[in-house]
Amino acid sequence: MADKPHASGRVAAGDASQRVGVEVLEARGVNVEVLREKLIDAIGAEFTTYYYYSILRMYLAGYEDYKEICEDARLEDRSHFELVLPRVYELGGSIPRDIRAFADRASCPDAYLPDDPSPVNVLEVLLEAERCAIRTWSEICDLTAGGKDPRTYDMASRILQEEIEHEAWFIELLSKERDGVIRPSGHFRRGEPGDAPHSKNRPFYNP
Ligand SMILES: [Fe+2]
Ligand SMILES: [Fe+2]
Repeated sequence: MADKPHASGRVAAGDASQRVGVEVLEARGVNVEVLREKLIDAIGAEFTTYYYYSILRMYLAGYEDYKEICEDARLEDRSHFELVLPRVYELGGSIPRDIRAFADRASCPDAYLPDDPSPVNVLEVLLEAERCAIRTWSEICDLTAGGKDPRTYDMASRILQEEIEHEAWFIELLSKERDGVIRPSGHFRRGEPGDAPHSKNRPFYNP
C-alpha cells in the first residue's frame, strides 16, 4: 500500500479535544487565540452596524435611492456576521453570552443616529463606519494571508471587497449631497437587496 503521510499527525487518533484545523494554523505561525478574539471583535462590529444601519436607514425617509443603498450595506453586514460566526467556533471560541459585552468589544464605534439626522450627517456616519470596517478586515487579511489561514483569509477578503464597495457608494452620495461634487463609485445595483455577492453564506446551508 502506498505511503499515506497525512493519515496521522500530532493530534492523536480519536482525540476530540484537539483540532487539526487549529494545529495546522499554529504550525504556520498563526496566533490562533489573537486571531479568534479579533474575529469576535470584528463580527461584533458587523452585528452592531446592522442594528445601527437599521435606524440610520429609517431617517433617510424620502431619499429612496439613499435608503436602498443603505439597505444593501445593512443586509450585507448581517451576512458578514453570519459568514464569520462559524469560524469563531471552529477556532475554539464563542461569542459572549451577554449581547452587551458583544457590543462593547466591537472593533468599530457605535454608528449612532446624529442629533440632526440630515442626509449629510447620516451619510457621514455611514461612510466612517465603512472605513472602520475596511481597516478591520484588512488587518484580518494581513494576519491570515500568504497561505497561513486560507479559510479565514477567504472570508475576510470577500468581506473586504464589499466594504470597499460600500465606502465608494457613500463617498459618491456624500460628495454629491454635501459638496455638489461628482465622485462616481462605479455602483451597479445588487440583484436583490443585500445580495452580498461575495460574502453570502446562504447557499451553503439552504441549497
Ligand atoms: Fe460589513
Ligand atoms: Fe459595510
